Amino acid sequence: MDSISELQKERLNYKPELPKILKLNFSSIKPATGKPTSSAADEEKLRNIFKNTFGKPVVTFAKGINKNIKKDPIKVGVVLSGGQAAGGHNVICGIFDALKKANKKSKLIGFLGGPSGIIDGKFKELTEDIIDKYRNTGGFDMIGSGRTKIETSEQFEKTKKTIVDNNIDALIIIGGDDSNTNAALLAEYFAKEKVNTQVIGIPKTIDGDLKNEEIETSFGFDTAVKIYSELVGNICRDVLSAKKYWHFIRLMGRSASHITLEVALETQPNIALIGEEVYTKNQTLSQIVDYICDAVVKRAEMGKNYGVILVPEGLIEFIPEFKELIKNLNEIMAKYEQDLNKIDGAKEKKEFIYTKLNQNLAKLMQSLPEEISSQLILDRDPHGNVVVSQIETEKLLIEMVSKKLKQMKKEGKYNGKFSAISHFFGYEGRCGFPSNFDANYTYALGFNAVVLILNGFTSYMSAIKNLTREPSNWTAGGIPLTMMMNIERRKGEDKPVIKKALVDLNGNPFKAFSSIREKLILNENYISPGPIQYFGPEKIVNKITETLKYERGIKSGKNRNKKTR
Ligand code: FBP
Repeated sequence: MDSISELQKERLNYKPELPKILKLNFSSIKPATGKPTSSAADEEKLRNIFKNTFGKPVVTFAKGINKNIKKDPIKVGVVLSGGQAAGGHNVICGIFDALKKANKKSKLIGFLGGPSGIIDGKFKELTEDIIDKYRNTGGFDMIGSGRTKIETSEQFEKTKKTIVDNNIDALIIIGGDDSNTNAALLAEYFAKEKVNTQVIGIPKTIDGDLKNEEIETSFGFDTAVKIYSELVGNICRDVLSAKKYWHFIRLMGRSASHITLEVALETQPNIALIGEEVYTKNQTLSQIVDYICDAVVKRAEMGKNYGVILVPEGLIEFIPEFKELIKNLNEIMAKYEQDLNKIDGAKEKKEFIYTKLNQNLAKLMQSLPEEISSQLILDRDPHGNVVVSQIETEKLLIEMVSKKLKQMKKEGKYNGKFSAISHFFGYEGRCGFPSNFDANYTYALGFNAVVLILNGFTSYMSAIKNLTREPSNWTAGGIPLTMMMNIERRKGEDKPVIKKALVDLNGNPFKAFSSIREKLILNENYISPGPIQYFGPEKIVNKITETLKYERGIKSGKNRNKKTR
C-alpha cells in the first residue's frame, strides 16, 4: 500500500454520492414495512426450516421522526465472502462511516479470509487509518475473502462462540447467492439460540445473478462488464485490422450468461452464445457446433475468415447432455467422496467414475478431450457448485468446429481458412477500481446496512433501488432473505438456497440482443467501448449497463431515468 498509482491517489478522494434519504439524521429516517412475504418457491418447506425468520415484510426507508433508533454504541462484524467484485471495500467504508455517524464509540471489526474467519475467530478492528487507505479501490484485500460454507453444527457453534465472546451486535455478510443463503441460515440459528446478533446481507457478485424484482443488480457486475467490454472491443478492433483469426472468448459469470449478454450488447460481436437459450431450446453440443460452423462458412463465402464469438463460462452446464452428466457427476462425487480421495491421478479417478455412470454418460465423458473430462471432475466448491471457471469450453468448441470444418472441406462444402485463438476473461474483471456506479452503489449498500441494524432488523438484505436514476434519488430499505429462497439439489441433498436469476429469454436485454444477432453474424459493426472512465463527461463516467437500462425500462441511447418509477 506504500506505493500507489496516481489514479489510486485521486480515487481515494472520490466522495461517493449517497441517496438523499440516507443523508438525513438517522432519527429522521423511518422504516415503513409492508405485508408479510413468501418465498421464491417451496414456501412450506422453507417456513419449516426458517421457523423464526420466515415471512418478514419488505422495509422501505422514508423521511419521518424515528424515536426507536438505537443510539448506544454497537459493535459490528463484517465479512467478505466468495469471489471478488469491485466495490467490496466501499461497502466496508459505507458501514464504517454510518457507524461513526451514529455513535463515535461504535466499532467495526473485519473477519479475515472469509467465513472461516468467523468460525476460527480471526478478525481485526477496522479503524479510520485502515479504512481511508481503501476508499474506492478494487479488490477484497483489506480483510480477504474465502468460500468456506458454515454448514456443520460444529461450525455453527464455533460461529456463535466468536460472536458471543466478542459481543458482536450485528454481522454483515457481503456475498453472492450462496453467502446470503448462509446469512439467512445464521440469522435463523441465532434467533433459535436466543443470540441477539442481527444478520444483514449485501448483494455481491460480478455474475449479476443475484437479482430479482426487489434487488435490481448485484455490485461488481457494472465494473466487470465494463472491463470485459473494453477487452472484447479491443479484440474486435484487432480482428478488423488483421482479418485472420476467429477469436473464441469465454467470459466469467458462472451458470448465468448475464455478463456475456451485456458484453454482447456493448460490443456487438459476430456470435454470442447464451446458456439459458441453449437449455430452453434443448440444443446439443453438435447443434451449437453446427451453428458456429454455419456462421464461419457464410463469412468465408464473403472472404471473411475471421470473427469474434463470446462463450459464457457456464455454457457447458446448459447443454442438455452435459447438464445430465454434471448432475450425475455431482451425485457420484458426493456419494463416493472418500473412495475418490484415496485415488491418485485424474485418469484413475475417471476410470472409477466411469464404472458408476450409466453407459451413455460414460461414453459421452470418454469422447471428450482428456483435459475437459478432467476439468469436469475437479473438486466442487464448498457450496457444491461445479468449478466452471476451470472448464475450457472455448477450447472444446474450437476443437469441434475445426474438426467439422475439415470434414466440410473434404466434402467440398467449405473453402475458407479457419485459424482460431482462445481467451478466457474472468479474474481480470473482478478487482478493477470500481466504476462510479459501483463505488456509489456499494457505499450506499454498506451505509444502508447500518441503518437496518440501528432499526433492529435481522435476516434482511440491504436494498438500494431506482438505480437507473442519479444516486441522490436512489431509494433505500431491506428485503427479507427468505423471500428470495427456494429449495435446490446441492451435493446430493435438497437445500434451501437463494434463487439464482438466470437470463430471462422474455426479458428486454435478451430481446434486444436477439433482434440484432442475425445481422451481427455477417456484419462487423463492432463497438469498442474503451476503458472505464472515472473523470469526464457525465454520460461516460456515469453510464449504466445496457442490462439495467433494458430491464428497468429506459429507452435505448438514454443513460438515466429522469422520472422516479
Ligand atoms: P461469486 O459467485 O462468489 O461472486 O463468484 C463469482 C465468480 O467470479 C464466478 O464468475 C466464477 O465462476 C467463480 O467466481 C470463480 O471462483 P474462484 O474465485 O473460486 O476461482
